[in-house]
Amino acid sequence: MNTVANPRRLAERWALPRQARGMRPPPRRSERRTPRRDADGGERLTARDGTPLVLRQIRADDVEALQRFFHRLTPEEVRLRFLHPLNELPDAFAHQLCELDPALAFAWVLAAPDDPVRPDLPIEIHAVARAHFDPVLAHAEYAIVVEGRFARQGFGSLLMQRTIASARRLGAVELWSDVLLENSAMLDLCTRLGFHRGMSLNNPGVVRVSLAL
Ligand SMILES: CC(C)(COP(=O)(O)OP(=O)(O)OC[C@H]1O[C@@H](n2cnc3c(N)ncnc32)[C@H](O)[C@@H]1OP(=O)(O)O)[C@@H](O)C(=O)NCCC(=O)NCCS
Repeated sequence: MNTVANPRRLAERWALPRQARGMRPPPRRSERRTPRRDADGGERLTARDGTPLVLRQIRADDVEALQRFFHRLTPEEVRLRFLHPLNELPDAFAHQLCELDPALAFAWVLAAPDDPVRPDLPIEIHAVARAHFDPVLAHAEYAIVVEGRFARQGFGSLLMQRTIASARRLGAVELWSDVLLENSAMLDLCTRLGFHRGMSLNNPGVVRVSLAL
């Protein structure tokens, strides 16, 4: 299994131009040139507590896992993610979030790897970063949430790097989100990634973060 001790550092490193990465980096146990792939192409990672994880695109059959993930989030995490309290992830909404038109939306998830021996066993999702593309404005709006148990391990940064790359591939010229003013974790992360902070016209408690792609 490909053990990635600090995925944020790895993401930051590969965000650099080729020359800046150095001609021949010394071999590191935590970084492999060809990351180990899950059956559906996801990248294998390991959390700090040893939990095996896979970073992959969301699938149509993730609906129930997404609902269980939602129920494990604290009310505060839900409020920071959706900007308002939300008690349920109704079936129709969960389906919408999993059954995406690839020309208009994508979602990266951090999930338990599928078990090839017991494919009937439910898998759990532990983080999601998604974006919806507006083809008229060529802007993409993103949202992200990492389950508390896996926070501060670099997964948020890694998911954001993937989101930025995927938004670019869709043709977006700007990636943006509204973030609560008190959400220092997300605002710090955005600053590190080069996002610009602006005012949200209708809501003084919200910061509009945007990144020109
Ligand atoms: C914001 C969030 C996605 C960060 O995910 P994460 O996996 O913890 O992020 P990382 O481990 O990659 O942290 C990267 C950097 O973000 C900042 N950060 C993350 N959590 C932080 C916290 N609790 N307090 C202050 N800064 C924080 C730090 O700069 C951190 O770097 P450091 O660990 O070297 O100090 C996660 O806290 C979360 O899901 N919050 C609830 C939902 C939410 O706020 N969504 C944003 C709405 S768009």
